[in-house]
Amino acid sequence: MMETNRYIVDGLHRLDGEVWVHGAKNAALPILAASLLCDECEIENCPDLSDVHAAENILKHLGCKTLWETDMNGKKVLSIKSTGVSACDIPDNLMREMRSSIVFLGAIIAQCKKATISYPGGCELGPRPIDIHLSSLRKLGVEIQEDGECLECSVPQKLHGAEITLPFPSVGATENIMIAATLAEGETVIRNAAREPEILDLAGFLNACGAKIKILSDGTVAIHGVNHLTGCRYRVIPDRIVAVTYLCCCAAAKGEILLKGTKPEHLSAVLPVLEEMGCKLKIGREELQICCNTPLQSVSSISTMPYPGFPTDALAPVMAAACFAHGSTVFIENIFQDRFKHAWELCRMGADIQAEGRIAVVRGVECLHGARVRCTDLRGGAALVAAALGARGKTVIEDIRHVLRGYEKLDKTLNSLGASIICEL
Ligand code: EPZ
Repeated sequence: MMETNRYIVDGLHRLDGEVWVHGAKNAALPILAASLLCDECEIENCPDLSDVHAAENILKHLGCKTLWETDMNGKKVLSIKSTGVSACDIPDNLMREMRSSIVFLGAIIAQCKKATISYPGGCELGPRPIDIHLSSLRKLGVEIQEDGECLECSVPQKLHGAEITLPFPSVGATENIMIAATLAEGETVIRNAAREPEILDLAGFLNACGAKIKILSDGTVAIHGVNHLTGCRYRVIPDRIVAVTYLCCCAAAKGEILLKGTKPEHLSAVLPVLEEMGCKLKIGREELQICCNTPLQSVSSISTMPYPGFPTDALAPVMAAACFAHGSTVFIENIFQDRFKHAWELCRMGADIQAEGRIAVVRGVECLHGARVRCTDLRGGAALVAAALGARGKTVIEDIRHVLRGYEKLDKTLNSLGASIICEL
């Protein structure tokens, strides 16, 4: 029997109302990996997503106990007890579930002094090597043998601090080193480290458990190794890409929405773009209001960069909005090699996009029309939802499992704002 797994979106319904922005997937995942080193911790605002469940399955396989509860405000809390860790491997089926499984390597190594894993899965955005992860862990004293399928890692002596300069500010590699170095002997310094808010959140979590991590003003991360981490109760930051996605949905469908529980300072590269496109924004400390009642205008060019630059994860949702803008917008993707797969799906809906290599040129059209399209990856799928909300007629979006990896109740939340989305799973 064919498995149904799609949204059916009836477009051109205005969005009005309030949205609570859930916790950040990309902050929660490394924190869950790091929880392996703590006795017991409680993660507040933990998003209830398939990627988080994949991380939970890895923790359970390793011998941790996990429990979901709901706090007084109705928000999800995930408790992890890591005192019974008994395994030091991640089976291939769990590794393939998501890219972030690689961040468990630093944690398992620090906890067990050995680890056996295979290569991680995740969104198909072009080649996603793990060479920076592995060379950095080697500098901390890890011996790694690769046979093309499996990685056998061990620490012959002790994990020790090291000076590491990353060739590229890789988010995952920075996280892996931070986690492993927390329990290493001596000082580790990571230069050219990633500076994403999720890195600060991981440092905040580890420090709350007794780690000694400092992030300097130039982004350098200094970690003074400690012997043991205790536990803590920690609140994950709100998801900045989920916030951008709702803003783009509103830009495409028109309307006025208020995002609550968000951190506008994490969106400093995206908000000016939306303003230039003609969206009216009111920026509060933890709230963000967007009002889009007039036709959108194009912006000359948008170039993705590591934080604090324009985030690669925001490219696809903003591209969906640009499809409706008057004039041409040029998108330049500098992080991943193949991040425009969704562009061809947008074209099925009547968008005018020419994409080649790392550059895509979007010429705005007056209206998109409904079509049968397929999610190619997480953010590309979210872009199709945003585009479908502004399109005339019905759009059938297939393969929405990608979207469920990163968005909690996307259909229900948008429906509560006035959208018309049927989710068939
Ligand atoms: C994180 O992926 C995010 N994932 C991604 O979010 C995000 O797109 C990306 O950072 C960039 O911001 C999580 O946090 C779970 P990288 P990560 O290592 O850590 C190359 C989403 O939609 N590279 O900074 O995998 C790599 O190939 C996702 O939520 C190497 O060459 O990103 C890429 O071109 C998708 N060797 C670039 O660096 C390495 O060893 C950036 O990757 C590691 C990375």
